Amino acid sequence: MTAIDLIDLFQRELELCRVKPGEVMAVLSGPGTRNDYIEAFVAAGQRLGAEVFHLNLPTAKKTSNNTRPTTAQGALWGLTPLTGHKSGVEILKKAGILIDLVGLLHSPEQVEIQKAGTRVLMVVEPPDILARMLSRPNSRPRVEAAGRKIAAAKTLRITSPAGSDLTYQLGQYSHTPILQYGYTDTPGRWDHFPGVFAYTWPNEGQSEGTIVLHEGDIIFPFKEFVRNDIVITVEKGFITDIRGGFDAEHLKHFMAAWNDPDAYAMAHIGWGLDEMALWNGISLINKESAIGQDGRAYYGNILWSTGPNTDVGGTRNTPAHLDIAMRGASLYLDGEPMVEKGDVIPADQQIKRG
Ligand SMILES: [Fe+2]
Repeated sequence: MTAIDLIDLFQRELELCRVKPGEVMAVLSGPGTRNDYIEAFVAAGQRLGAEVFHLNLPTAKKTSNNTRPTTAQGALWGLTPLTGHKSGVEILKKAGILIDLVGLLHSPEQVEIQKAGTRVLMVVEPPDILARMLSRPNSRPRVEAAGRKIAAAKTLRITSPAGSDLTYQLGQYSHTPILQYGYTDTPGRWDHFPGVFAYTWPNEGQSEGTIVLHEGDIIFPFKEFVRNDIVITVEKGFITDIRGGFDAEHLKHFMAAWNDPDAYAMAHIGWGLDEMALWNGISLINKESAIGQDGRAYYGNILWSTGPNTDVGGTRNTPAHLDIAMRGASLYLDGEPMVEKGDVIPADQQIKRG
């Protein structure tokens, strides 16, 4: 993709975000941010007449909260160049839109910036994935239909042919589900370019059951397929047992390295609705260059996670975070199927295939 192509792509994205002439647009970068993304977003914002500034921050300073074991690094969600950087937060709160090129997700600083009315767009993926998964006109209404179902539900159950059967209680956080459709045009709202999926956080301490991960499921941050079954027991909202072969041992070791009970808490849960995302996308990427939106958002996957819940006002501010995408599984809200064996069931969430 040429530099001009990239500016054109980012201009289309900023138009979806309804960036207006005179609006303040911030671009946040840190160590390792792609220079071509900084330059292309600045240029695209200026094309649309925005008042653009670029803020580059150094690596986060060490605090008592980020001295985790190095074995778990590569997944330090919530610890960013903005961690503890008060003046940076204040400057970014002045923007109408913040283009987040460092990954502020699951950080208290992002929550504070959103509360000031700034909409936040995270962008990490390489250009070919951004271009393929740019939001389509039917992306938003389908995920908003999913959000209405989540907001009305009291229970969420996931099952799978491999033997999963786990129920989450909803209500504590589910009245405002998190809906991702790949752009943000509403004050204070976060989204991630690209990806289409819906999710929520369960009530704390009330998830019960068993999940059996099966070959073809994907564990992030490893960005690896599961190759043999992993039996995960959940009691009172926390993982209490992980059993199986090598994959289970690997996962167990990773979790233990955090030395943090909150790492085992059940976190966001939802399903993917992005027909342009690829189940096997992780086989096609350079792992270092992509966050894995293909695997997280593909149509009909069940995505569950562990760790933090500060995004929705909870108190678990832990950088230990797994996202796990299950293929061919089922998800029910109060008994009504949203996904059955990998097929999206409600008509208003489906892609109409011609
Ligand atoms: Fe996540």
